[in-house]
Amino acid sequence: MAWFIIILLCLGNSMAQFLNITNKTKPDLEERLVGLLLRLQTEKIYDTLLIYGRDCAFPSLSSRLQVPTVLVSSGSTNFEWNFSSLTLVLSCEFQAEREENYRTLMKLQLARRLILLRGDFQPDTVCDFYSKKDQYNIAMVKENFDQFGVVYSCRLFQDRNYEKVNLFDVNPIFVEQFRNMHGAPIRTITDNLAPRSMLTQDPKTGEKKWIGYVANVISQFIEKVNATMDMQEELTDIEGKFFVANISKWTADDLLDIGMTMESTGEMSNFDTFTYPYLTCSYCFMVPLPDLVPYNEIYGVIIDRGVLGVLFVLFIIFSVMLIYIKQRSFRGLSLTRVLMNDMCLRGFLGQPFPFPRQSCRKLKLICLLLCFASLMTTTMYGAYLKTFLYSPPAEPKMRTISDFEKSRYTIAMNWAEINLLLFRNSKLQGVSDARVQIFEDYLEFLSLRESFDTDYIFPVNSVRWSTYNEQQKLFHHPVFYYSDDFCLSRYSILSFPIRRHLPYRELFEEHILRQKEFGLLDLWIDHSFLDMLRLELMPYTDFSEPPEDELEIWLDDLYWVLGLYALALGISCCCFALEVLGSLNCWTRLKEYKWR
Ligand SMILES: *[C@@H]1O[C@H](CO)[C@@H](O)[C@H](O)[C@H]1NC(C)=O
Ligand SMILES: *[C@@H]1O[C@H](CO)[C@@H](O)[C@H](O)[C@H]1NC(C)=O
Ligand SMILES: *[C@@H]1O[C@H](CO)[C@@H](O)[C@H](O)[C@H]1NC(C)=O
Ligand SMILES: *[C@@H]1O[C@H](CO)[C@@H](O)[C@H](O)[C@H]1NC(C)=O
Ligand SMILES: *[C@@H]1O[C@H](CO)[C@@H](O)[C@H](O)[C@H]1NC(C)=O
Repeated sequence: MAWFIIILLCLGNSMAQFLNITNKTKPDLEERLVGLLLRLQTEKIYDTLLIYGRDCAFPSLSSRLQVPTVLVSSGSTNFEWNFSSLTLVLSCEFQAEREENYRTLMKLQLARRLILLRGDFQPDTVCDFYSKKDQYNIAMVKENFDQFGVVYSCRLFQDRNYEKVNLFDVNPIFVEQFRNMHGAPIRTITDNLAPRSMLTQDPKTGEKKWIGYVANVISQFIEKVNATMDMQEELTDIEGKFFVANISKWTADDLLDIGMTMESTGEMSNFDTFTYPYLTCSYCFMVPLPDLVPYNEIYGVIIDRGVLGVLFVLFIIFSVMLIYIKQRSFRGLSLTRVLMNDMCLRGFLGQPFPFPRQSCRKLKLICLLLCFASLMTTTMYGAYLKTFLYSPPAEPKMRTISDFEKSRYTIAMNWAEINLLLFRNSKLQGVSDARVQIFEDYLEFLSLRESFDTDYIFPVNSVRWSTYNEQQKLFHHPVFYYSDDFCLSRYSILSFPIRRHLPYRELFEEHILRQKEFGLLDLWIDHSFLDMLRLELMPYTDFSEPPEDELEIWLDDLYWVLGLYALALGISCCCFALEVLGSLNCWTRLKEYKWR
């Protein structure tokens, strides 16, 4: 009996010791976890700890790490929290995190996650579970972590979807898995709009490649991350009629990863399915260059009212001074004598005039000035006239809506653009519907624009315009100009459409920024015209109207001048006749006087 009691005591003691040991392991696990968290901090710093679940070692650890901590013991926040991308998520057990708020989830998509696995969950099921939710930065530890120090870290693009990393290994626990995607597909689709994406084909292998300032970004990204391009051509096959805005719809519906197109995001409030801005440009109208002033109106063009006014004032001054200096008083001043001053009139018209004989110095000075003024005016008008006759100036450009309403042009538009832009643009709201022609088919609209049809004005962005402008330089004379007065948007911001939960969004955006920073975007844009020529996407046709061969002046062109001349001649004939009649009267009076 005594032995039995002694054995029992011994057993109880060792049990107590054992229990004491098990109780002591807890601080050991905590120590290890603190070590792990410190190591994670050296791998990549975190600025917030977000702890999901309760009853585990994590909450008590946070006080030792001096990092702001958010405790979500219920597993869901149901509120739009704006966590930074440097948040570290700790879960007390598998599926302790039941976040439902979609915005919070988006913010946390790229955050690193550490899960304390309890029970007999296997790492591969956990990794599967998270990769279905598009979350890839996952690591877990089991409850025996303090004994073995093994961290299970999920890995994509390899046979086993996790890797065992020892706490004391040099291998990193979290790696940027999307830097090498090992040939995984990236689904995309092109809008085929030159010059931003143009299809080229290798003559030998027949391999398709897309070039252009939009296509290049994507194809080089794909090359950089060792992925493959998966062109989802079947999407366009289904609909048959497809247009650019569908691509962003498809990316928003997760049918595509990245759209090989760009869309204006300036007016959007939600950028979930768009990247960082890639390009900023203006979106204005290209307008046919105004016609040249016809020859018969050139005489009118050279007469400028301001200049005429100045000449008139000079004339009056000279005339008054001449009269005053000749008579040494203002007594002889009258309106007719000032306006019909013979010397001044002839002087200003560049004609010879009688120089007064006994003239004082002042009079000579005035006459010299008059000669100088006549030389100036006649050469000025002569030079103007000859220049304009040689190359007639253009009519003024359209500046306002009323100019447009008076002109013969029609606005050509694609209906998608109408919805997007026209009705938000206050300036263009005044345009009557009859002056806007809406094209259902974007390609029809494009082919009309590419034919430089001068009956229309077309919306075009400044990048595309630069290629049209280059093309125009090959014509005999340019046909269109880019209007700064008629714009749908002076500042449109273009971004790539992407899938909402694209896990490599950050990588892609960084890639975009690098390409721009390096100047590649500018290079590609500058090259687009040559690429289009090389790929025969642009005809060599001259769309400008053939120039008139004869640059002669016809009698018709002098219509106004000759008309005015005839009128003046008529007036002077009348004056002459009146004068003759007057002198006849004098004769009769003289005769009467003699007879008396
Ligand atoms: C249990 O452990 C504590 C220290 O962790 C020690 O002070 C105590 O004596 C131990 N009790 C037994 C029964 O071993
Ligand atoms: C060990 O912990 C349990 C509760 O977890 C407690 O009931 C027990 O007294 C502890 N034992 C010792 C020896 O501290
Ligand atoms: C997070 O950001 C959104 C939009 O910027 C805002 O509406 C929301 O109130 C923010 N949440 C918090 C908690 O500040
Ligand atoms: C790229 O992916 C292929 C598999 O498609 C793989 O064989 C190759 O090793 C990868 N390249 C690099 C540099 O890892
Ligand atoms: C493409 O867009 C047009 C116009 O919004 C729509 O009618 C058509 O159904 C869209 N196609 C797809 C596949 O979404």
